[in-house]
Formats: sequence, structure tokens, C-alpha cells
Amino acid sequence: MFSRIKEEIAVVFERDPAARNTWEVITCYPGFHALLMHRVAHCLWGAGFKWLGRYVSHCARWLTGIEIHPGATIGRRFFIDHGMGVVIGETAEIGDDCTLYHGVTLGGTSWNKGKRHPTLGAGVVIGAGAKVLGPILIGDHAKIGSNAVVVKAVPPGATAVGIPARVVEAQESNGRFAAYAVGRDENDPLTGAINELISHSGETDKRIDALVAEIDQLREQLGVIAGVRNSPKP
Ligand SMILES: CC(C)(COP(=O)(O)OP(=O)(O)OC[C@H]1O[C@@H](n2cnc3c(N)ncnc32)[C@H](O)[C@@H]1OP(=O)(O)O)[C@@H](O)C(=O)NCCC(=O)NCCS
Repeated sequence: MFSRIKEEIAVVFERDPAARNTWEVITCYPGFHALLMHRVAHCLWGAGFKWLGRYVSHCARWLTGIEIHPGATIGRRFFIDHGMGVVIGETAEIGDDCTLYHGVTLGGTSWNKGKRHPTLGAGVVIGAGAKVLGPILIGDHAKIGSNAVVVKAVPPGATAVGIPARVVEAQESNGRFAAYAVGRDENDPLTGAINELISHSGETDKRIDALVAEIDQLREQLGVIAGVRNSPKP
């Protein structure tokens, strides 16, 4: 248990350049306090002491401003920086090495029981104020921009920003590099329209090239005919 706590203190130094020493982390980091209390609440919840689990989670919220449902599953080396306003729902699952900033919600979009909160892969980073909603999968090492609202799955390694969030990392388009991170994300109407314009301009270029080639050929043929007509008769 102490080795796990040590590990959780070590990640604060890794991910927060403002952290100065262990005493400061133990006494002044609400994310660290919330996580320790969640570990206790989660054990109680799993052992069937549901009310006690909820009560420990409620006390943690009161002390830190971070609300983590005791049913949520959280992996190792999890770090919540600043923390105030973070909400993590009951059926959320968080992989190892994830980082959340203040104001992040891992929430549901329905009142149905069962899995209704997101699953984060390993090494996911979620920016301040972002909302990740529904039982969607955020792939390993994906990044979510501050204040994004994510309602659809994000592939591993991708970066998603905006409302609703769209994937913005540079991708190949029609075999060519797509500038301005315009990928083939069919979910985003703006990206869809730009992709259509790119395809249309490619088609138009091809047709113009074909027309120019035909005109050149006709010109050559006309030149030959004119040459034959103008040549002196024997
Ligand atoms: C807005 C909301 C009510 C829409 O739910 P819905 O009617 O089931 O809508 P859908 O999930 O079918 O999405 C419809 C469209 O709206 C978009 N969308 C959904 N939620 C959105 C949101 N919060 N902001 C912006 N766009 C949103 C979807 O991307 C989808 O766009 P598309 O048609 O271009 O693909 C819901 O997504 C939401 O945000 N609920 C609030 C949940 C919450 O705050 N939970 C916190 C619990 S702690």
C-alpha cells in the first residue's frame, strides 16, 4: 500500500512543475487527497458498505471539491491537477497514468442504470473544463482539449477539441498531406465540407488537364492538315 502511495506522490512531481517537495504534495494537493480517499471509498463500496463508501466520497468532495463516485474504477498513477469541480461518475473506468485538470466531468447522458460513463485508456490527458459524456471509449494516450465536449469515441493517440469535440491531428487526405489538420472526420460538418471541396478541386484539375491535352492534340492535327493543303503540288 505504501509503495502505491509513494508512486502517487511521484507522479505529482512528474506532471506538475510547480511541486517542490513531498511534504507540500502530502499537505497541499487536493488531487492527491481525493485519490487516497477514493481508494478507501472504493474498497468499502466493493465490500458492500455502500453508504459508508458514499459518505467517504462525500467527505472527500467537501474537503477537496473533487467528486468521485466510490464505484468508479481508477488505475495506477492517476493525477488530478488543481482539482476543483472534477466529477467522475459511478461507471467510469480510468486506465493507468491518466491526468485530469480542474472542472473535468466524466459524466453520463442517460438516467438508465448500467454502464453510462466513459472509459479512459492508459495515459489519457483531459484538459481543464472538458466534459466527456456517455459510455464512450477514449483510446490510449489520447488528449482532450480544455473545455471540449466529447460525445463520441476518440481513437488512441488522437487529440480532440471543440464542442462537439472533433479529432484534430494531421492526417493524410487523398494521398497528400492535409494542411491545417483537416482530416477525414466525417462527423464534423465543417471538416466534411472542406474534404468535399478538396475532392472537387482534385476532380476539376483532372478534367482541365484532359481538356488541355485534347486541345493540344486537335491543334497538332489541324497543323498537319493545313501543312498538307499548303504544300506545293508536284
Ligand atoms: C445535449 C444532449 C442532451 C444531447 O443528447 P441527445 O439528444 O441524445 O443527442 P445525441 O447524442 O444523439 O447527439 C446529437 C448531436 O448533438 C451533438 N451533441 C451531443 N451532445 C452535445 C453537447 N453537449 N454539445 C454539443 N453537441 C452535442 C452530437 O455530436 C450529435 O451531433 P451529430 O448529429 O452531428 O453527430 C447530451 O449529449 C448532453 O450533453 N447531456 C448532458 C449530460 C451531462 O451534462 N451529464 C453530466 C452528468 S454528471
